[in-house]
Amino acid sequence: MRKIHLITFGCQMNKLDSELAAEALAGAGHALVASEAEADLVLFNTCSVRDRAERRVLSRLAQLRPRREAEPGFRLGLMGCFAERDGARLLERLPYLDFAVGTRQFARLPEIVARLDYGRERIGFFGGRAEAEGDPGIGPASPRKRHSGLHGFVSVMRGCDNRCSYCIVPETRGGEVSRPPLEVAAEARALVLAGAREITLLGQNIDAYRKGSGFGLADLLRLIDREISGDAGLLRLRFVTSHPRDITRELAAAVREFPRAARHFHMPAQSGSDGVLARMRRGYDLAAYRERLAMLREEVPGAAVASDFIVGFPGETEADFLATLDLVERSGFQNSFIFKYSPRPGTPAARDFADDVPEEEKRRRNRVLLAAQDRVNRERGAGLIGTRLTVLAEGPSPRDPDRWIGRTDGNLICVFPPPVQGSDRAGSLLELEVLSASSLTLFCRLAPGGAAKP
Ligand code: SAH
Ligand code: SF4
Ligand code: F3S
Repeated sequence: MRKIHLITFGCQMNKLDSELAAEALAGAGHALVASEAEADLVLFNTCSVRDRAERRVLSRLAQLRPRREAEPGFRLGLMGCFAERDGARLLERLPYLDFAVGTRQFARLPEIVARLDYGRERIGFFGGRAEAEGDPGIGPASPRKRHSGLHGFVSVMRGCDNRCSYCIVPETRGGEVSRPPLEVAAEARALVLAGAREITLLGQNIDAYRKGSGFGLADLLRLIDREISGDAGLLRLRFVTSHPRDITRELAAAVREFPRAARHFHMPAQSGSDGVLARMRRGYDLAAYRERLAMLREEVPGAAVASDFIVGFPGETEADFLATLDLVERSGFQNSFIFKYSPRPGTPAARDFADDVPEEEKRRRNRVLLAAQDRVNRERGAGLIGTRLTVLAEGPSPRDPDRWIGRTDGNLICVFPPPVQGSDRAGSLLELEVLSASSLTLFCRLAPGGAAKP
């Protein structure tokens, strides 16, 4: 039996896959260990979304090469998106890599790890269909013990059928596959019974859940509400990521009606310029994006909306960039995740357009947008001083154990003095009053008379 150290890069979907992989490996009798030093197998769950994500894995692998060569029995493996995209070539190129397994094949990990003990073969499994029987990401739910504390993640769909011109995800994750609603609900329920208080439903393009079937994401929220409402425990339900083209008024209305649905959407705009959006093949223009944003705020008063942006997309002029800046300045986003364009091999953008915005200029645009979002954050924070907020208390802050942290349903982080009753309040909703605010954190106290809400 092996001692396995699993290192995860990339998005929440990858983190969830790591939990599923760890569960499968533990089920086969292996031990998951917390440090590289005590491991005899280091497994990387990799990301390909930008070049940097791939380079970081390659450099970690190279650092482990001497140990791989000196220590008999020590092994190195890859799973995840980079493994899917380039695993076969990496196995050829890197003699110290023992196996690579793609995003829809990691159910085979126990078998692969067992094979490592025999011979010197190098193992690769790629491709496949997400709904293949036994795929741990999409198959029937088991009452899993895998959730990490208060936050449980459930995959509701995998893959993506969009073809945003810059994006590698459709290649690394394959086409859209939705899980059956009752499986999703059963898994969410199992997580809540195991202690989760907040469930996040995950999908690359989650608004397209069972698109055209007559039972979409809004119905799924209602189903989960009904299935879990008898079990004390579920306090919040979120879902990510929303595509502006597929998000519907019906979904927004379901969020408003379902008291435990977080009033929070992650709906990436990517750019504020129509020309850039067209070259990105996003399927909407600025006016349509603004219209969706207005719709969300109309249906769900006070909704927090977070966005992603790519700066330095091929051909992005100063005027294009200023249109994006204007969108950030005027939209009151809860948060903006900003990325510098990184050409991905084989994507339409990498094939058709030169990466013509200089790195220094990408960096500048990145800084300017971050500063604009920072101003939005500060204004919002200042406006919240003196108001009351409800947070899901998480317990002592990792940075300062004398203070607690919690999150609002819009995902704002609040810091506050520990409640008198102490640890039993972690995982419950508390009413706080905001005393002061920085860009990313609200400093609060327990609201007078604001005991835990039922
Ligand atoms: N499915 C989600 C997220 C995909 S990846 C969605 O469609 O919104 C997360 C973010 O990474 C994207 O929203 C985009 O902003 C960014 N991204 C994707 N490909 C990129 C690339 N080639 N270069 C830079 N950023 C990229
Ligand atoms: Fe990539 Fe676009 Fe699909 Fe998101 S919607 S995963 S950005 S192709
Ligand atoms: Fe996620 Fe990176 Fe893959 S963002 S889907 S792990 S390419």
